[in-house]
Amino acid sequence: MNFDKSKFEKMKEELSKSCKNGDLLCICRYLYDNVPYYNWVGFYLVDGSRTLKLGPYVGEPTIHTRIAFGEGICGQAAETMKNFVVQDVSKEQNYLSCSPSVKSEIVIPLIKHGKIIGELDIDSHYLSPFDKKDEEFLGWICDYLVKEVNIN
Ligand code: SME
Repeated sequence: MNFDKSKFEKMKEELSKSCKNGDLLCICRYLYDNVPYYNWVGFYLVDGSRTLKLGPYVGEPTIHTRIAFGEGICGQAAETMKNFVVQDVSKEQNYLSCSPSVKSEIVIPLIKHGKIIGELDIDSHYLSPFDKKDEEFLGWICDYLVKEVNIN
């Protein structure tokens, strides 16, 4: 949306200072509070085999607390280990709705030693709000978590 590269760079600096030790809830809160079009921010963590379990999040509670690989956007991102950027969820066949207010979604997998260990999931109430800068910024957060933090 209206976020330029320098704004994302500033947020990277602030995030590394304010969310020490990769505190996942702190990261969710920071993103939710600082990016007006990030309207639900959460982590899903891989639990056992081929299931995602809802981890820390900020936003409306969701019924999707466990998601099988392949199911919905989150499950597809887990299955393929690829970023999913869906600019209009109404056009998506394999989608799990959390709230009618959600218009778009971005999911970035957390990949450690070639295996998926979780993902960062963001819903937006706007259509087409995400661009490459969001993907780069969120990818930076996930890389940092994979390298520096013991998740799982
Ligand atoms: N919409 C997701 C489900 C998770 S909620 O967005 C919190 C999906 O289709 O996988």
